[in-house]
Amino acid sequence: MEKLINQIKKEVTQAFVQAGYEEKYGMVSVSNRPDLCQYQCNGALAAAKQYKKAPIMIANDVVSRLEQSQTFAKIEAVAPGFINMTVSGAYLAAYVSEMETADKYGVDEAKNPKTIVVDYGGPNIAKPLHVGHLRSAIIGESIKRFGRYMGHKVIGDAHLGDWGLQMGLIITECKKRNPDWVYFDDNFTGEYPTEPPFTMSELEEIYPYANAYSKEHPEYREEAQNATFLLQNGKAGYQALWKHILNVSVNDLKKNYNKLNVTFDLWKKESDAQPYIADMVADMKKNGYAYVSDGALVVDVKEETDKKEIPPCMILKSDGATLYNTTDLATIVEREKLFQPDAIVYVVDKRQELYFEQVFRCAKKTKLVDDNVELTFLGFGTMNGKDGKPFKTREGGVMRLETLIQSITDAVYDKLSGREFEEAQAKEIARMVGVAALKYGDLSNQASKDYVFDIDRFASFEGNTGPYILYTIVRIKSILQKYANTKGSVSTTGGLLAPVSESETNLMLEVAKFNDMMEVAFDEKAPHKMCQYIYELSNTFARFYHENKILAQEDIERQGSWIRLISLTKGVLETCVDLLGMEAPDQM
Ligand code: ARG
Repeated sequence: MEKLINQIKKEVTQAFVQAGYEEKYGMVSVSNRPDLCQYQCNGALAAAKQYKKAPIMIANDVVSRLEQSQTFAKIEAVAPGFINMTVSGAYLAAYVSEMETADKYGVDEAKNPKTIVVDYGGPNIAKPLHVGHLRSAIIGESIKRFGRYMGHKVIGDAHLGDWGLQMGLIITECKKRNPDWVYFDDNFTGEYPTEPPFTMSELEEIYPYANAYSKEHPEYREEAQNATFLLQNGKAGYQALWKHILNVSVNDLKKNYNKLNVTFDLWKKESDAQPYIADMVADMKKNGYAYVSDGALVVDVKEETDKKEIPPCMILKSDGATLYNTTDLATIVEREKLFQPDAIVYVVDKRQELYFEQVFRCAKKTKLVDDNVELTFLGFGTMNGKDGKPFKTREGGVMRLETLIQSITDAVYDKLSGREFEEAQAKEIARMVGVAALKYGDLSNQASKDYVFDIDRFASFEGNTGPYILYTIVRIKSILQKYANTKGSVSTTGGLLAPVSESETNLMLEVAKFNDMMEVAFDEKAPHKMCQYIYELSNTFARFYHENKILAQEDIERQGSWIRLISLTKGVLETCVDLLGMEAPDQM
């Protein structure tokens, strides 16, 4: 559906052209003085110079051509040359009625759907999921959902970190503790056991222990490095053990991500990119992009226009070992081969920005992908505690994601205790509302900014919070239910009635912005813009609800129209809530 503001822009532009002015002056924006008008055009002020006329004359000329238009209830030229517009109730009601029946509430789907890979989550095997991975998962999931809603083919990839020293450390520690395990018997030729020899909690104990121990004991560290090397070069026992580590970890990760409504299409790993490295490196050398500097193989990626120094991208270390870069570049090769993506979006901590700049430049320069493939880094800030420092447990440790989700769910559960819910029901509501509190608390901030994790604020049922948005939906559901109980279903033949009050007009105007908002939120990869929108929509609904006694309304036709309007409001809110990866309960 054409966006409401664009429809207005078209009419205004046409009037400018008819009056003999260039069409570029017909620009329209949402009014920043909603007390005076809904939309405004400042084009006459801009045109004045070119046509050497007083802006008010131009404005008057344009306005006189639009006075008869059914679109406007009021259109006027105001000194020194503004054009102020208020749309007519009939026009607005017709627009909203069209949204009601349109697919996806009239959102304009992409005309040329793209294939987009979203690289997010990025957890590391055998290390527990912690709050650092929270933001990537939450933001990435919504970007994926936005893209799909807009009609693109979006592939979400968890891109597991499974290839570093952490693997060698775990193997080394397992060997020290259980030297008689079959995985360490070099003469073993049978099938390795299918049951993993450890649980997730055992793994979680092993890694930090081995990591700390290796820092104090160089010979142990060397052994771990060697184990990593042997693993990467195909030593059977180590590979079998590594698969167990992988499976146990991935099962645990899935459990946690499910709690957050985060699902990946692909569970690719850094190790999956390894087979592409040799050819990639050979090509980079052959084509003269890569050269040896201080023993290491590097590709220069600096550009003349750089304001700061961009160091070369290192492809191989002097001992021939591969790096994080090497894997990311080879992953681009793999993605190109498997999906030919039009775009890859990386949702990663903003401290990795320079790193990704190097990787992107290197990938383009060495032609791993075409110039027109969009490589985007969506960097996010840190989640801080109330002390302004990165969020930690009370003991100063890294908080596990599971614990974090539980604590916010508990906070919501406590709030529900005064209400008449059965135990199981209260738990289920607390789960949904808790997740929304956590996710909205994150997504409502611009991704690149740091924010403070404040459980009391996030879990509040009032203000700009997830629970408040869900509460709005629940409230609408309850009105619709009551209406259905007494009156049955509302007839949707014919359009909605033109609004009769300011609060009704405002609700229609707000609902009508959905299409516009959706496009901006997706293009800018800005979930916070969707949060802003649903917060405003919820507030606008609250005012409407407060000022109009919907269920007591005696004019049946008017009541039916209101029911349709709030039902549409609910649909739009629910869609946004889903796109943000949250769910609304029926009651709360
Ligand atoms: N595993 C990495 C980390 O924990 C994040 C991976 C981000 N994605 C990527 N393609 N490098 O820091």
